[in-house]
Amino acid sequence: MIPRPRERATGRPHHRAIPRLRERGRAHAGAGDLARIPLARPRALSRWEPECAKVRGMSGKARIVAFANQKGGVGKSTTTMCTARAAAVYHGARVLVVDMDPQGNVSSSLVREPIPSDEVTLADALTPGTGISLRDVIRPTVWGGVDLAPARATLSVADRALMAAEFGREHKLREQLAPELDNYDLVLIDNPPTLLGQLLTNSLTAANAAVLVTEASQWSGDGLALLGKTINGIRSYHNQQLEITGVVVNQWRDTNFSRAAETEIAEGIARHFPGVPIWLDWRIPQWVDIAEAVENGLALDESKKSKLRVLSQDVFRPMAAALLKVPA
Ligand SMILES: Nc1ncnc2c1ncn2[C@@H]1O[C@H](COP(=O)(O)OP(=O)(O)OP(=O)(O)O)[C@@H](O)[C@H]1O
Ligand SMILES: [Mg+2]
Repeated sequence: MIPRPRERATGRPHHRAIPRLRERGRAHAGAGDLARIPLARPRALSRWEPECAKVRGMSGKARIVAFANQKGGVGKSTTTMCTARAAAVYHGARVLVVDMDPQGNVSSSLVREPIPSDEVTLADALTPGTGISLRDVIRPTVWGGVDLAPARATLSVADRALMAAEFGREHKLREQLAPELDNYDLVLIDNPPTLLGQLLTNSLTAANAAVLVTEASQWSGDGLALLGKTINGIRSYHNQQLEITGVVVNQWRDTNFSRAAETEIAEGIARHFPGVPIWLDWRIPQWVDIAEAVENGLALDESKKSKLRVLSQDVFRPMAAALLKVPA
């Protein structure tokens, strides 16, 4: 897809003129059957010429970071998107977001129009034997510097196809990402709210690092133990190098309840993920404005609301820097 004239002329990010709360999952409406996959169509990546390309040249290949928690609705997709945007806009990074969730929430927020049902998506690249590469499905997003491997409901079909594969099923995403790593500085993977199946396994097998996302108000020690078991299993069998970079606390409210929950989180992390920092300086507050902006693909740093711009600067900018391993 050719970048829009304004993006090409200025090299600056562009956002949609009409803020409208999307119905979640719209992008995968009408998803076709995997058996009817059309021939792959190569796409041009977004052209991003940042003024301050700090990241360029510092790293040979992209770092791959997976955002995870099997609990639904804790903010994995929101954090993935805001961090992707911050990495591009503040650090000049070339970012690829991989939407590994069949709900396709990131995809419906970041693409301008619903993806036509005859276009290939991540499911096609992950399904064994299709001959479709990740490059065939990557597309630019509403944000300059951020590309997307989009998902729709067919990702569940791909999950089952991977389960049935005889060899190498855990490594399919890693294999598909390998040729793309020179094209990006950071790959962020949004994951579904489950530990079952091949999607999270593929993400964690491909990743250099995982970030755990949680809500201060909904903490489950049992859930943490299960996630710890999954991550240890991935390390033992598929990806020894996988590190846990940190824990994001989302939907933060300055209440006694949130503070008590946070203490429990700290204890649970110390038990199941010793040494992993909880990013207390980068708590994300519970603000409906965040949901309204991000679900519509509106960048926090371009918001008319100064508190969202400050949030972007103070939280997502340093978080992105930590993932890129560059100065904030
Ligand atoms: N800090 C926040 N303040 C207010 N609303 C938020 C915040 N973070 C996320 N939300 C909203 O909460 C809902 C769940 O967030 P999100 O989709 O990011 O969670 P998730 O962990 O990705 O969910 P799922 O597990 O279903 O994929 C969304 O409607 C989102 O807009
Ligand atoms: Mg999500």
